[in-house]
Amino acid sequence: MGKKTEFLYLSEEDIIKAGALDYARCIDVEEEIFALLSKGDYVMGGDKQNSHGIYIKFPKESPFPNMPLDAPDRRFMAMPAYVGGRFNVAGQKWYGSNIINPQRGLPRSILMVMLNDVDTCEPLCLMSGNLISSVRTGCVPGVATRHLAKKSAEVCTCIGAGPVSMACFDAIALEAKNLKEIVVFDIVKEKAEVFAKEAAEKYGISGRAADSLEEAVRAADIISVAASSVKPVNIENNWLKPGSLIMFTGRCNIDEAYFSSAKIIWDNAKMHDVYFDDHMALPEEQRFINGIGVQIYRMCFEGKLPPVIEQTSLGDVVCGTKEGRKNDEERICFVTGGMPVWDVGWGYELYENAKKLGLGQTLKLWDDPYLC
Ligand SMILES: NC(=O)c1ccc[n+]([C@@H]2O[C@H](COP(=O)([O-])OP(=O)(O)OC[C@H]3O[C@@H](n4cnc5c(N)ncnc54)[C@H](O)[C@@H]3O)[C@@H](O)[C@H]2O)c1
Repeated sequence: MGKKTEFLYLSEEDIIKAGALDYARCIDVEEEIFALLSKGDYVMGGDKQNSHGIYIKFPKESPFPNMPLDAPDRRFMAMPAYVGGRFNVAGQKWYGSNIINPQRGLPRSILMVMLNDVDTCEPLCLMSGNLISSVRTGCVPGVATRHLAKKSAEVCTCIGAGPVSMACFDAIALEAKNLKEIVVFDIVKEKAEVFAKEAAEKYGISGRAADSLEEAVRAADIISVAASSVKPVNIENNWLKPGSLIMFTGRCNIDEAYFSSAKIIWDNAKMHDVYFDDHMALPEEQRFINGIGVQIYRMCFEGKLPPVIEQTSLGDVVCGTKEGRKNDEERICFVTGGMPVWDVGWGYELYENAKKLGLGQTLKLWDDPYLC
């Protein structure tokens, strides 16, 4: 007789009850995981164990009538990770993205997170991943604000007025304790106005939409860039104030002069080293075009910056093994590409909460495995 296997299924409603929208807790959990990243107590996919994940990208044309075709933000992606420490769990986020989904009353991306026992490999939990993913994405700039923003920061600018940008601001607002104003720039000004009003009311600060990117950036001590990835946001060195922290959650370029004096800090330099390798494997004309950190990768390739792998990761700052902010005049650029360790770690926290609260449905995989 083999072993019965059951696992927990958590719907979006269940994970909300389990605390999925608790940004303050997610920032703390992510800070803990940043320390595990720095110590090396984690594994992600690929030969270098640091891959963001693997895509299914559809072809531009196909003889097969049912095969989807390439389109902006059209993909499936699997993002596996093991997270160590008290988590000691393996899992993955699996999602599909189709830009026309909102016309069908669906989110653009639909995400699921699966957790597995690292020893027996049995499923522990299958859970709705949309909120896990958006809150974990927002909370990374939250941890970066805690460690890298100057304490006196009063103005935060958000570039892009979409849901990811709002998740980032929700976390930044918790960590920037002296915040007085939010400024928003979006190519659609009405979206920026709605975002600024909502964020200002939520946090009891003033808020306004800026008329230009330059005006928005010049105003800020903290800049969060999370605009759509079709074209990078282009920022000029002299727009960025002394002491500012700029965080790239979406694509952004700053003219090269900025990087001769500013400090770069990655979410995980080892993952960006894998991205760098991926670019180097492409034909020369296709390199360093798509991706959040591509401008910096190109500068490393051209010898204008040290190799990505030698640069600082936020986990090293959290652990105190590398220097973070030196003083209130220093300008810092933080780059985050997103990692499955957040989905697995934050998902695990919610799974543990759900068990304590008796949430979700228990599903049976088998009473007695047929192939045992
Ligand atoms: N790093 C990560 O972990 C991570 C995770 C998820 C998403 N993202 C990034 O976040 C981005 C935003 O995601 P979303 O779901 O909120 O997208 P969205 O399309 O819903 O919203 C993006 C907003 O950006 C605006 N925009 C587009 N180009 C702009 C520009 N040049 N300047 C100012 N505003 C501009 C759009 O008008 C829109 O309001 C994604 O494109 C992706 O690159 C990053």
